[in-house]
Amino acid sequence: MKTAEVQELYKQFVLPTYTQVPVCLVKGKGSRVWDLEGKEYLDFFPGWGVSALGHCHPGVVNAIKEQARKMLHVPNNFLNIKQAELARTISEASFPARIFFCNSGAEANEGAIKFAKKYGSETGRYEIITMKRSFHGRTLAAMNATGQEKFHQGFEPLMEKFLHADFNDLESVKRLITPKTIAIMFEPIQGEGGINVASPDFMSGIRKLCDEKDMLLILDEVQTGMGRTGKMFAYQNYHGVGPDLMTISKSLGGGVPIGAFVVNRKIGKEVLTAGMHGSTFGGNPLVCAAALAVFKVIKKEKLLTWAVRMGEQLDREFEKLQAKYPVIENSRGIALMRALKLKEPAAPYANEARAQGLLINATQGDVLRIMPALTVTPKEIRLAMRILDSVFARVAEQNAKSGGCSCSAH
Ligand SMILES: Cc1ncc(COP(=O)(O)O)c(C=O)c1O
Repeated sequence: MKTAEVQELYKQFVLPTYTQVPVCLVKGKGSRVWDLEGKEYLDFFPGWGVSALGHCHPGVVNAIKEQARKMLHVPNNFLNIKQAELARTISEASFPARIFFCNSGAEANEGAIKFAKKYGSETGRYEIITMKRSFHGRTLAAMNATGQEKFHQGFEPLMEKFLHADFNDLESVKRLITPKTIAIMFEPIQGEGGINVASPDFMSGIRKLCDEKDMLLILDEVQTGMGRTGKMFAYQNYHGVGPDLMTISKSLGGGVPIGAFVVNRKIGKEVLTAGMHGSTFGGNPLVCAAALAVFKVIKKEKLLTWAVRMGEQLDREFEKLQAKYPVIENSRGIALMRALKLKEPAAPYANEARAQGLLINATQGDVLRIMPALTVTPKEIRLAMRILDSVFARVAEQNAKSGGCSCSAH
């Protein structure tokens, strides 16, 4: 089959809900992927944050193979060793907790929202404050929680009572608190929102507010989790601030669909009991075996310290790029969750990068998001930077020709 034929099948049979590029990826290994025609790419945005160990990490692939031979699926009214072991592993890596397993980030957030509403039901509280520019998923409640109007348009009336505060602005959050507020929910680093890092003051300020008013702090670690920021979970970069609920997904399964919400044991009372929440597939042995392998690989290959080291290298390389190309307004992020904010649209840069064999992402109009695998090597970073250098030069040249942008290269 050729890419054009796959495109034709899509045209006829797949709902067009994604803006797709005409590339059909068929093989991946580490930070490399190949398309149907055999073209190789260096993947610095692997799996939209899912493939944080790189593509097809042997530790994950072998765990999946081994589990697949024994048992693929167990309904959740039976005990399942892998799920129990994974729950213990997540709790040990975060805080004393009990966990509910589902299949995606949006579902994890739905569950956390349901939990919060149930928690508040006794006192008649149901409002949840989330942040502008946040992203929490596409299911109805997660979409309503998302603080970007473009995701709400056409789906009104909004079904839940979500109020959107300004990220990193404690006063803006305080202004939205009413006697009906039950939770505050946000991403420690906004991913889709353009890599906006929560300030330590904001984090500790929200924690304090939640403690004072018996509100739940829900951290969405769907994109930041599993080592991307140099800690297993991003909140661990903030001294003494932990969530009441944490949602995780994406890289948790190393490529297979799994999500979870993690409930802090300090919430003493039993909130969700038998029959109140469920999922047919959630936490089946196959995905839990894969997730257990992800934890093992991160530990064995010391990927948390490696992510910090590689992040420092990226930082130095970005500084050089910024000095050379004034179109770059700033470079931001932590460890391997990074972005270059541009002074003009980012899509032409992501497209040119792809043409030159480097996969990165454009978000929020003018932000280039760069989130390589935790297993990325110094050599791969150097290669990616050579490509990026050439991409900035080429787009500047094209802009100069078309009279487009005023901020060309030196
Ligand atoms: C922070 C965050 N939360 C939730 C989601 C939704 O996850 P999913 O697409 O698996 O439903 C995403 C997806 O990008 C995300 O980045």
